Amino acid sequence: MLTYKEVKDIESQFGSPFYILDEAAFKKNYDDIVNAFAARYEKFILAYSYKTNYIPYLCGIIMTKGGYAEVVSRIEYDLALRIGQDPKKIIFNGPVKNYDDIELALKNESIVNLDSEYELDYVRRYAAGNPARKVKVGLRINIDLTDENGVSHLYEGMRAGRFGFSSESDNISRIISELCRVKNLTINCLHGHSSAWDRSVWCYEKITKTLCEIASKYAPDTVEYIDIGGGIYGYIPPQMRRTQMPSFNDYAKAVCGILTGNPWAKNRKPYLVLEPGVAMSANVLSYVTKVVSIKNIKGNILVTVDGSAFHTKPTFHKVNQPHTVISKDKKENHGIYSVCGATCMEKDYLLNDIDDIVPERGEYIKIDSVGAYTIVLTPTFIHPTPPILVRQDDHYKEIRRRQTFEDMFDCFCFE
Ligand SMILES: Cc1ncc(COP(=O)(O)O)c(C=O)c1O
Repeated sequence: MLTYKEVKDIESQFGSPFYILDEAAFKKNYDDIVNAFAARYEKFILAYSYKTNYIPYLCGIIMTKGGYAEVVSRIEYDLALRIGQDPKKIIFNGPVKNYDDIELALKNESIVNLDSEYELDYVRRYAAGNPARKVKVGLRINIDLTDENGVSHLYEGMRAGRFGFSSESDNISRIISELCRVKNLTINCLHGHSSAWDRSVWCYEKITKTLCEIASKYAPDTVEYIDIGGGIYGYIPPQMRRTQMPSFNDYAKAVCGILTGNPWAKNRKPYLVLEPGVAMSANVLSYVTKVVSIKNIKGNILVTVDGSAFHTKPTFHKVNQPHTVISKDKKENHGIYSVCGATCMEKDYLLNDIDDIVPERGEYIKIDSVGAYTIVLTPTFIHPTPPILVRQDDHYKEIRRRQTFEDMFDCFCFE
C-alpha cells in the first residue's frame, strides 16, 4: 500500500502521473501458466505476446525465464533481437510482412506463421534462392468458432475472423500441397489464435482439435508446433469480471487432454505453444495521477487529474479498474464522483460514478490493472507519455522516462 508521503516523494523525483510495474506479479503470471501446462504436457512453450505490452524490461524477463517472443511486426521482431532473444525463440505472426521481414526471419530460423497467399510467393522465392537450406514455415488457420447451437464465440459474435487461411479442407490441402511442391520447404507449425469474446475453454478445445486434425491429415511428419495462440483469461479483479473465468489449470487440463488423447499428437509429440498477452500483463501495472481540481456541474462531482484515460484505457471501455484514493489524512467524506483527465476530449474519463472518499486537490488516485494494451496503444496526445517505475530495494528505478519535447517533435520538419 503506497502512502501519501511515498507518492509525494516519487512525484518529487519523477513528476506526475507515473506508472509502477509489479515485476513479481509478471514473473508469477509466467510461472503459474507454465506450471499449469507443463505439469500436463512436457513440451510446452510460453511465447509472450509483445503487442500487449512491450516494455523492454518485461520482454527481458521473458527471455531470462526461457520463454519465447511472439511478435506481429518487424518493429517487434527487431525489439526481440535487440533484447537478445534467441531468434529461434521468436514466433513471427501478423497479417502484413514484407519480403525482407520473411527473409530475415527464415534466415534466423525463427518460427514464421504465414497469414495470406501473398506470403507464399515470398517463401517460395526465398526457398528457390537458398536451395541448400531446409526452409520451414507455419500456417495460421482461420478456425470456425461457431458452436453446436450456432453461437459464434468470435469477437463480437462475428461470423468469421479475418486472419489466416480458411480452414475448409480443399483450401488447406491446396495450400499445403503447393508449398510442399518446393523441395526444400516444409510446414513446421500450425497456428490457431482466435479472439473469442468469452475466452472459454471450449474455444481452446476446438482450436487444438482442429490443428491436430489438419496436421495429421496434411503434414503429419513435419509439424513440430501446435500453436493455439493467446487470449486466455488471467487474474482479473472481481469488479472487472464479465463472463465465467476459467483458470490456467482449466485451460491446461482441456488442451493437454486433447493433445495426449490425439493419436497423431501422441505419436508425433509436437510442442504446444501458448501466446498469452492479457493474462501475462494486465495486472502488472498501476497508474498514479494527481488531483488538480474538483468541481460540481449540475450535481455531478468531477475530479480532474493530471493523467488521462488515454494512459489507463486507451480503448475507452466503460469498466472501472480497481482504484485507491491516496489521501494526506484519514477522511470520511464519501461521495459519488467521476475522475476526468487532462486532455480536451469530453470522453476522457478515467473512472465513472465511483463511490469512494472524495479526494482533495493535491492528493492522488492509484488505478490498478492497467498493464494490457495501454503502453502500446497510448498516443502522444496533448501531454507526453508518463514514466514507468519499478521498485528495486529501497528506491524506484525508471524503466521508461517521461517523454520530452524532443521525443515528441524531433521526427517532424519545422521548415
Ligand atoms: C496472434 C496473437 N497471439 C496472441 C495474442 C494475445 O492475445 P491476448 O492478449 O488476448 O492473450 C493476440 C492478440 O490479439 C494475437 O493476435
